[in-house]
Amino acid sequence: LILTQDELKKIAAYKAVESVQSGMVLGLGTGSTAKHAVDRIAELLHQGKLKNIIGIPTSKKTHQQAVSLGIPLSDLDSHPVVDLAIDGADEVDSNLNLVKGRGGSLLREKMIESACKKFIVIVDESKLVAHVGASGAMPVEVVPFCWKFTQNRLQSLFDYAGMCCEIEKDVGDLKTASDAILRLAGVVEHGMFLDMATTVIVAGELGITIKNK
Ligand code: A5P
Repeated sequence: LILTQDELKKIAAYKAVESVQSGMVLGLGTGSTAKHAVDRIAELLHQGKLKNIIGIPTSKKTHQQAVSLGIPLSDLDSHPVVDLAIDGADEVDSNLNLVKGRGGSLLREKMIESACKKFIVIVDESKLVAHVGASGAMPVEVVPFCWKFTQNRLQSLFDYAGMCCEIEKDVGDLKTASDAILRLAGVVEHGMFLDMATTVIVAGELGITIKNK
């Protein structure tokens, strides 16, 4: 039996949704893995197995999906404490640090996922890395004003000529890199989610692995 990557994503997502209880305020993630979780939450709501859920979507796309599925929604202004967020990631390491944002969403995710009591990350095994930020692009969200100027400053900070405000170099020590990026005027946020995930659910060919903080 060979499962497709999408089937693995769905297995991780369904497992995470087992932690959802009636009455919760839920952070709804973004991306192809989180989409399965939102579908599943809606299904349980319609079956009456979950009640009184309030969803806080982490992107416009997820907002649209949730509206189309009839999930009641709110925002952080009205619900500043989120019980549980479920979201995917682009990279996950054994310390439960993440890289996110390669799907285009990042700021809302970080705002909502820093405001939640529990944050379950759902991935297929292809997302596992030894150290996050050591390979691939690090997404950085910048303000539109003179974004090329900010891009150049980011690149000189990391001594690398990349594209579109993605730093394609090992960012080194994560906390140091995070602080340095956030200190640059023009930067809004970056895709390192450090010390935020409380649980990671990994779906692989050999089954589900759950790692807790
Ligand atoms: C959105 O920009 C990201 O933070 C997503 O969490 C990430 O890209 C994971 O998406 P997939 O589940 O589609 O891989």
